[in-house]
Amino acid sequence: MGKVTVPDIIAAKGVRKLTMVTAYDYATAVWVDRSGIDMVLVGDSLAMVMLGHEDTLSVTMEEMLHHTRAVAKGTSRALVIGDMPFMSYQASVEQAVLNAGRFLKEGRAQAVKLEGGVSVLAQVRAIVKAGIPVQGHIGLTPQSIAQLGGFKVQGRNAEAAKRLIDDALALVDAGCFSIVLEAIPSPIAERITEAVSVPTIGIGAGPHCDGQVLVLHDMVGLFDRFVPRFVKQYDHLGRKMLEALRRYRHEVEEGIFPSPEHSFTMPEEELKKL
Ligand code: KIV
Repeated sequence: MGKVTVPDIIAAKGVRKLTMVTAYDYATAVWVDRSGIDMVLVGDSLAMVMLGHEDTLSVTMEEMLHHTRAVAKGTSRALVIGDMPFMSYQASVEQAVLNAGRFLKEGRAQAVKLEGGVSVLAQVRAIVKAGIPVQGHIGLTPQSIAQLGGFKVQGRNAEAAKRLIDDALALVDAGCFSIVLEAIPSPIAERITEAVSVPTIGIGAGPHCDGQVLVLHDMVGLFDRFVPRFVKQYDHLGRKMLEALRRYRHEVEEGIFPSPEHSFTMPEEELKKL
C-alpha cells in the first residue's frame, strides 16, 4: 500500500469511510501504521494522556514537534497530521504560518490541524496558501475550554447548530481538506457532512460522518482517568500491562527471572583464569 495523500483523503468522500487515530511516539505509530488506518493525528491530547496535564492548554510547540518527529519516523503509509497547540496560531496569521511550517519542516508531518471556525479563517487561508494542508476542527474545541465552560456537547440548539454549519462551510471555502467534528449531535454532523465537499471526521458526532477519529489511549484502555461517553474501548491494555508488571515483579522477587535462557555464559576455562 502506498503513502496516503491529502488528495486520497478528499477522494474518499462518499466512496469509503475514513479512519484516524492519535499516536504520540515511534512505537505506537508503527502499530497504528501497520493497521491500515488512514491518518495518524499527533493530537494535543498528548498533553493529557502522555504528559498528565488536566487539559490541552499547556502543551508547547517544542513538545508537539518532539512527538511529531517520533511519530513520523514510525509511519510509512498513513498521513501524519500535527495538531497546532494553544497559542501557536491564535495570536497572528504570521505566527500561524511559521508554526504550521515547523510541523512539516521539523516534525515531518504532511498536514496540520487547528481548532475553530470563522475566527481562524485568515490563518487557514494563509497556511494553505503556503502549501500546507489544513484539517479544521469544530464543535467541542478543547483549547477553548475556558470559554465553553467544560468538555460539553456543542450545537444542541438551532442557533448554535447553524453556527457550526456556517463554520464548516467557511473552513472549506478557506481551503481545509477535511474537518473534525467533535461532540455534536448526530443529526447536525449529518447535515454538515451533506453540506461540505470535504470529508468530515467525527468524534462523538455519530455515524453519518465520512470518517471517525479516536484517541489511541482511550480506545485501547491505556488512559482511564475519565472515559468520555463517545469512546469505545476496544481493549484494556492498561490492565494487561499491569498484569505483566506484577508477574515481572513477582518473578524477580522470587528469583525466577532471569532464568538461564535469559542469561549469558562464558567458557569455563576463561572463568578459571580469573
Ligand atoms: O488532540 C486530539 O487528540 C484531537 C482529537 C480528539 C480530534 O484533537
